[in-house]
Amino acid sequence: MLATAGFAAEPAAPMAQAQAQTAARAPAAPAPKSAAAHFLELYIFQIFAVMAALTAVSKVAERRKPEYCCSIRKTWNWALLLSFFGCAALGFLLLLPLDKPTKNLFFRLHIWTGTAGVWAGLYHAARHIRAMLPAR
Ligand code: HEM
Repeated sequence: MLATAGFAAEPAAPMAQAQAQTAARAPAAPAPKSAAAHFLELYIFQIFAVMAALTAVSKVAERRKPEYCCSIRKTWNWALLLSFFGCAALGFLLLLPLDKPTKNLFFRLHIWTGTAGVWAGLYHAARHIRAMLPAR
């Protein structure tokens, strides 16, 4: 009992006291961002939403104006080709020693062309999947 009281009354070591004061003064570390917040910040969800809207518009246009069907398909094929090459070129450029702002810009452009390309590629695959399956 006496020993416990004596221990509690002992002043903290100066080093530990200084550390505790520094910790109390330091600003709180920012909470780690969720994956969704990260995707939103990089406009990935927004690009998918725009691509989904473009897909819906082109589907309706193909049905209402069959004479534009070829041009619409060609546009999607060019979008796929250009986004793929843009994304690949930017990815390789990211391997070069670049200054921070340029790297940041190329990184964002790589993500944006990559996201658009992923959508265009999936849409392309969905349209052509029947031709890739064994004939029945
Ligand atoms: C066209 C095919 C692609 C190629 C050839 C490619 C190439 C590369 C290369 C070489 C890097 C390394 C850059 C570095 O280490 O600094 C990189 C990084 C990265 N790529 Fe791609 N990429 C491709 C597609 C994509 C796609 C579709 C996405 C997703 C939208 C993507 C997302 C990323 C991310 C997030 C990083 C950075 C990783 C990190 O922080 O180190 N890439 N890419």
